[in-house]
Amino acid sequence: MKGSFDVKSVEETWALAREFAKELKPGDVVCLEGDLGAGKTTFTQGLAAALGVRGRVTSPTFCIVQEHEGGNLLVHMDLYRLHGEDDVLSIGWEDYLARGAILVVEWPERAGDLVPPDAHHVEFLHTGEENRHITIDKRTQERV
Ligand SMILES: Nc1ncnc2c1ncn2[C@@H]1O[C@H](COP(=O)(O)OP(=O)(O)OP(=O)(O)O)[C@@H](O)[C@H]1O
Ligand SMILES: [Mg+2]
Repeated sequence: MKGSFDVKSVEETWALAREFAKELKPGDVVCLEGDLGAGKTTFTQGLAAALGVRGRVTSPTFCIVQEHEGGNLLVHMDLYRLHGEDDVLSIGWEDYLARGAILVVEWPERAGDLVPPDAHHVEFLHTGEENRHITIDKRTQERV
C-alpha cells in the first residue's frame, strides 16, 4: 500500500492504519515520521486494533517501548528521548527483530542505520486542526 492520503479526523487516521495493517507481517519495521502531535501514536492505535491487540495503546514516550500481544507481538517504540544507535540497541531492538515482532517506531531518526532498508515509512504532516496529510512508503517510492 503506497500513496498519499488526506484524512480529516482521528477516525479516518485509524481507518487508514487498519487498511495498511493488512499487509504487515512478522519482522516488519514501520517507521512513523512527523512532528510532535502529528498523529504517529494515533496511527499506531489503528494498527494495533487491526492486529488484534486488546487494551489501550498510549504514547510510550516515558517508557520508550511497549509490547502488545495480539496475533503477533506488536512492539511500539518512541525513540524521541534516545540519543543514537547504542541507546536504541540497549532497549532490545535486535532482540525484538529476532523474535519476529512487528516493530512500530516513532522518531526512527534516532535509530540511524539500524532501520532496515525494507522498512515501511509513514510520514505525517499537520495540515489543520484535525487534518493530516499521510504518506505511506514515501522513501520506497522515491527510490524507484
Ligand atoms: N486526523 C487526525 N489524525 C491523528 N491525530 C489527530 C487527528 N486530528 C486530531 N488529532 C489529534 O492530534 C493528536 C495526535 O497525537 P499523537 O499522540 O498521535 O501524535 P504523535 O505524532 O504520536 O506525537 P509525539 O511525537 O508527541 O509522540 C491527538 O491529540 C489527536 O487526537
Ligand atoms: Mg507519539
